[in-house]
Amino acid sequence: MEGGAVDLSVGTPCDPPSPAVLAALAAGDEDRSVRSYPSSAGSEPARRAAAGWMNRRLGVEVPVDALALCIGTKELVAGLPAWLHLRDPSRDTVLYPALAYPTYEMGARLAGLRPLPVPVGEDFRLRLEAVGRADAERALVLWVNSPGNPAGQLEDLAAVAAWARGAGVLVASDECYAELTWAGPPRSILGHGTSPGGLGGLLAVHSLSKRSNLAGLRFGWYAGDPAVVGYLREVRQHAGFMVPGVVQRAGAAALGDQGHADAQREAYRARLVVLQQLLGAFDVAAPLPEGGIYLWAPAPGGDSWALAERLAAEAGVVVSPGELYGEAGRGYVRVAAVAPMERLELAAARVAARRR
Ligand SMILES: Cc1ncc(COP(=O)(O)O)c(C=O)c1O
Repeated sequence: MEGGAVDLSVGTPCDPPSPAVLAALAAGDEDRSVRSYPSSAGSEPARRAAAGWMNRRLGVEVPVDALALCIGTKELVAGLPAWLHLRDPSRDTVLYPALAYPTYEMGARLAGLRPLPVPVGEDFRLRLEAVGRADAERALVLWVNSPGNPAGQLEDLAAVAAWARGAGVLVASDECYAELTWAGPPRSILGHGTSPGGLGGLLAVHSLSKRSNLAGLRFGWYAGDPAVVGYLREVRQHAGFMVPGVVQRAGAAALGDQGHADAQREAYRARLVVLQQLLGAFDVAAPLPEGGIYLWAPAPGGDSWALAERLAAEAGVVVSPGELYGEAGRGYVRVAAVAPMERLELAAARVAARRR
């Protein structure tokens, strides 16, 4: 097809990073951030920048010692169950949404633990009342993801925190799409903690991959319960999980630059609307998400593979069938708003030409 495929299947950013990030990457070695081993937990300036952003954008107070870096969040999501099991070998279960980013389940499997999907409702929100007491007692962690990938739902984080407190289960809240919250302001599970410092029993996980188009740089962080963060900092240091010093410097620069993140938000919002119209031409009514960079579109007749095939054949657009995110995704496709507007317009023009 003339112009090639428009690949909207993987949530990988396509836009350039902020000039402030490029300047930080190109800066000299005055602070020895290239030649010496970087701190595993993260430099003081990087952690301050992350805590400052959480305060400004999410309204939560996190002491810098209750926050540490990860090499992008995927490695943390995949590794967390093993480390939590080391800390508490009496528990063996990982709870995660039945419709979700596949790495939550993978983390349990990699650690030889028991993955247990929590059912989601028709609105794709967690149905925690379906978790039995015996399973909760075995749970090392409950994953929640809000805004959610793939369905774009916002969870009731206060209710999730309350359930976890009652059940005595640590919540790990993957908030990597927080900056891309459309239905109201960005929010964090850390707004709903217990003592100490309001962070007990909670962990929030964040990333610059989507907010700042830095998926290739690998900069993420986790923050919350001081005892859990302290433990993870210790084991991760011994295992050699370190964000390179220049990346720490560039990440701090990105966190201090809200302007590029605001512009990126608008770019995603505009693309989601254009993609919604494109799907309309296929008789698909996809709602705009409450958050995130995906349209979660119900396929005509519930056949997600047939819709994916038609989108490829008629528009040259590649999307992900919903089953890839769990059985609960059957009958949907996920469309990522990760191509420049001119590519989306090319796809729309192809459809219009065929229908003339
Ligand atoms: C829900 C969710 N969590 C985590 C990640 C991983 O992001 P990264 O490792 O780039 O920080 C992704 C990436 O798509 C995601 O969708």
